[in-house]
Amino acid sequence: MASQSKIKLSSKDHRNTIDCFMSHAPLANIIAHRGASADAPENTLSALRLAAQHNARCVEIDVSISSDGVPFVHHDHTLHRCTTGTGLLCEHTASQLDQLNAGSGMSGFENEPLPRLSTVLELLKEHSLGLNLEIKPYEGLEEQTVDAIQAQIESAWPSDLALVLSSFSHESIDLARQRMPEVARAPLVGAVPDDWPAVMQRYDAHNLHCAEDSLTQSQAQMITKAGYGLYCYTVNDTDKARTLLSWGVNGVFTDHPKTLLQVLET
Ligand code: G3P
Ligand code: MG
Repeated sequence: MASQSKIKLSSKDHRNTIDCFMSHAPLANIIAHRGASADAPENTLSALRLAAQHNARCVEIDVSISSDGVPFVHHDHTLHRCTTGTGLLCEHTASQLDQLNAGSGMSGFENEPLPRLSTVLELLKEHSLGLNLEIKPYEGLEEQTVDAIQAQIESAWPSDLALVLSSFSHESIDLARQRMPEVARAPLVGAVPDDWPAVMQRYDAHNLHCAEDSLTQSQAQMITKAGYGLYCYTVNDTDKARTLLSWGVNGVFTDHPKTLLQVLET
């Protein structure tokens, strides 16, 4: 469960003193966003292998399900940007999705499968990579998506590797809380909302994952002081990453893990 010890937080945004829970679920300072996605097609086996070669300790991937309920690693609901397919991913069966090429036309990646989550979990274990799995359900498929992810995690993920489930779909975070209370979770937000303490408590969440561009130093300090993990996306500029980490942000998602790792990782 999230709760480890209870502390009092006085928030400028919330006049009343509120109860918060220390619960940070650590990932890494530098997290390879969709794998090493600047140097290989995003969310592919090659991008994840490359992240490992660049000494990343943790990766972020996006997951949604096929029409027959098999989880695949892919960012968009539609197939055309990153694969040779068209239409919605959730309208194709797993065996149809297995036929697609996800190399995005990037030279050197001509035969790149659209990966099943099961294949990706095996690869991450092989390389001892921690995981932030972003649940990206098609609207209305939240329950089926969380169920499918739960089945894979329970059968394949070892307890000694970092794992955090995140989602912009807070309904999915709530489902994850109910079905897999022992797995750490993080609501994804753009700007940090004024009622972030209520959001964190509602989902008994461990981390908050937010956009880097509007986060302020005082928000960062309040969130981390409350004991939550704070991770920012998508940070491709080394100076920006350095600033965020100096504010106490626990980690950044980047498409350029190699560069940021060389300069920044502690
Ligand atoms: O999980 C961080 C980040 O990946 C969220 O945005 O659109 O890149 O999935 P997106
Ligand atoms: Mg993502």
